Amino acid sequence: MQAKVVVVGSLNMDLVTRAPRLPRGGETLHGDSFVTVPGGKGANQAVAAARLGAPVAMIGCVGGDAYGEQLLAGLLVEGIDCQAVTPIADVASGVALIVVDDSSQNAIVIVAGANGRVSPASVQAVDHLLVQAEVIICQLEVPNEAVAFALKRGRELGKTVILNPAPASGPLPSDWYAAIDYLIPNESEAQALTGLVVDSRASAEQAASQLLAMGAGKVIVTLGAQGSLFADGQGFEHFPAPQVKAVDTTAAGDTFVGGFAAALARGDTERQAIAFGQVAAALSVTAAGAQPSIPTLKEVQAFTPL
Ligand code: RIB
Repeated sequence: MQAKVVVVGSLNMDLVTRAPRLPRGGETLHGDSFVTVPGGKGANQAVAAARLGAPVAMIGCVGGDAYGEQLLAGLLVEGIDCQAVTPIADVASGVALIVVDDSSQNAIVIVAGANGRVSPASVQAVDHLLVQAEVIICQLEVPNEAVAFALKRGRELGKTVILNPAPASGPLPSDWYAAIDYLIPNESEAQALTGLVVDSRASAEQAASQLLAMGAGKVIVTLGAQGSLFADGQGFEHFPAPQVKAVDTTAAGDTFVGGFAAALARGDTERQAIAFGQVAAALSVTAAGAQPSIPTLKEVQAFTPL
């Protein structure tokens, strides 16, 4: 199998608690449940692209522990090429501590662990995967040097390069923008990248314009239940989200990115790919957990809005 979508990114074990609401600083709350679920933005996007029809390869690292074995096994079950997912004996696997509240919102703390070992050299070592790919996806849960290397190599090879700048804590290095075909932040990430307050369609348009001016090819600001805003320098287009009953929004953005990439890789137009990614993301919020909530191609095709 030659992977058309290659994801360079993180694998985390998600330690998920459900509680009536998110705790305040210094507060102890009684939770309702606890589960461990495979996650990590990179792995979630790889699983989404694979379930939604693309041949996928993942480049990343897991620890030499039981979580690492489970994370790797989970990707292999999806048919994802894991030749470039390296177990590292002397470090723990990445974890994410997640609280989901009764309104389906979440708060997440990640500890990088083995994800911190992804490097330019480890990406370069599997250059053949990038050469074969049509779409390369990166996020920000592995070191910036590795992300920069993958983005620039993708650009050099003429691939479609997607950056989901998540999580974002500030501006991106300015020399990254020219390597990005599709920059896909959510509102808070668009705010971190631009310094603008992004809390409405109008402010999302302003932020997208700024990101285009910095050199990104095209920008898609995801707006949760409000859909997404596409900006290509010619104008803006708003894509409303299908309405669903939300249970857990964890990995909705990842499902959008993976679905968008899978659709581009099979030749859909970018507008078709956005609409497809949005249906997949909407379905993902109707189920709990990161990877368990990601729908299959059949489920997306069978979807009828409420
Ligand atoms: O985007 C959701 C993901 O963020 C979770 O699966 C968690 O691992 C964190 O990386």
